[in-house]
Amino acid sequence: MLAGKRILLIVTGGIAAYKTPELVRRLRDQGAQVRCILTKGGAQFVTPLALGAVTGDKVYQDLFDLTDEQEMGHIQLSRDADALLVAPATADVLAKMAAGLADDLATTALLATDKPVLAAPAMNVRMWHHAATQANLATLQGRGVTMIGPDNGDMACGEYGPGRMTDPLDIVQAVANFFSDATLLAGRRAIVTSGPTHEAIDPVRYIANRSSGKQGHAIAEALARLGAEVTLVTGPVALADPAGVTMRPVASARDMLAACRDALPADIVVCAAAVADWRPAEAAPEKMKKGGDGPPALCLTENPDILATLAQAGPRRPALVVGFAAETETVVDHARAKLARKGCDWILANDVSPETGTFGGDANTVHLITATGVESWPRMSKAQVAGRLAERITTHLTNGGGAGGADEAAE
Ligand code: C5P
Repeated sequence: MLAGKRILLIVTGGIAAYKTPELVRRLRDQGAQVRCILTKGGAQFVTPLALGAVTGDKVYQDLFDLTDEQEMGHIQLSRDADALLVAPATADVLAKMAAGLADDLATTALLATDKPVLAAPAMNVRMWHHAATQANLATLQGRGVTMIGPDNGDMACGEYGPGRMTDPLDIVQAVANFFSDATLLAGRRAIVTSGPTHEAIDPVRYIANRSSGKQGHAIAEALARLGAEVTLVTGPVALADPAGVTMRPVASARDMLAACRDALPADIVVCAAAVADWRPAEAAPEKMKKGGDGPPALCLTENPDILATLAQAGPRRPALVVGFAAETETVVDHARAKLARKGCDWILANDVSPETGTFGGDANTVHLITATGVESWPRMSKAQVAGRLAERITTHLTNGGGAGGADEAAE
């Protein structure tokens, strides 16, 4: 399952580190090559000798060890791996990863890598539930780190709850799944639109909206993780670029449409951008001045509908075109009407009434509407919505496009 895969295992300072020689053996049983970085904390729970014996390799410990750096620099360590696996991942290392700290060999390798990172958290249940840890997890997941566990159970500290490192065999399975998932959409091209658009009034002013781009970015990342070649056409947002996607930053709706057209042909289009419906008919060439005539009247004109344009029938129409519907009332009915009006295949309808906190927030409640039914998903994080959508897209495309119908069911 993991034949030939090179795993850089980073062992940090939690009691679960004592299980890592077993983890190494199980990874190697599956054909993986394992190299270890052991932190100072980790070395309190497992010896470099034990890890060296099971990896059959040197165990790397010190950022400033000249011999280590000459043999295998910290950059080379992560460059030579297919994936980095942090197990156990303590609350401390997760916080450092989220903050971008690089104060030892492990965190430096993690900051320097452009390879996929998986982490198996292990910590006391209260540390797990702490708002700081949960915020760090959300940040890391948003950047594409795959979390494995933790599991529920009795802990070394005498408490019970989530925080136990996932069993080594299950970690190996999760790593194997990660690699096999990465080929599910191989060879498929996807275009995702995200964020708001900015429609110029003059060189300094524009019309915009409250879209954060979180949902669109998460979808781009989820599709890329399954091996799709993704172009993310995004309006101005304050988000990190998702891992493994081609970025096409734009400002206006017209730029966004042009960038989408450039990215064709594609198999999958997901329009998650909150495109401005109207733009000023003519942007003033110079900054408009406050003057004696009172406030200017803005004359608006309609923007192109990117989703409807890309969904138009023709030889370049992508196999699957997905739109979003942000509604504040009778969400599903409005979304059904939109599906027909725009000519797309699926609509993800979400309730954006102010009380839901969907705009700018990390969670979303959506209904997947297809030609044949409605599937209501429970409230979940935007990263989870993205993962589930990517899963549905994969099933649809691998079933030859025939199984797009969602059942009329609520969860
Ligand atoms: O018409 P409405 O804005 O409600 O439709 C929402 C859906 O249409 C979203 O998928 C959005 O990305 C897309 N859209 C678009 N171009 C527009 C307006 C909306 O692609 N000009």
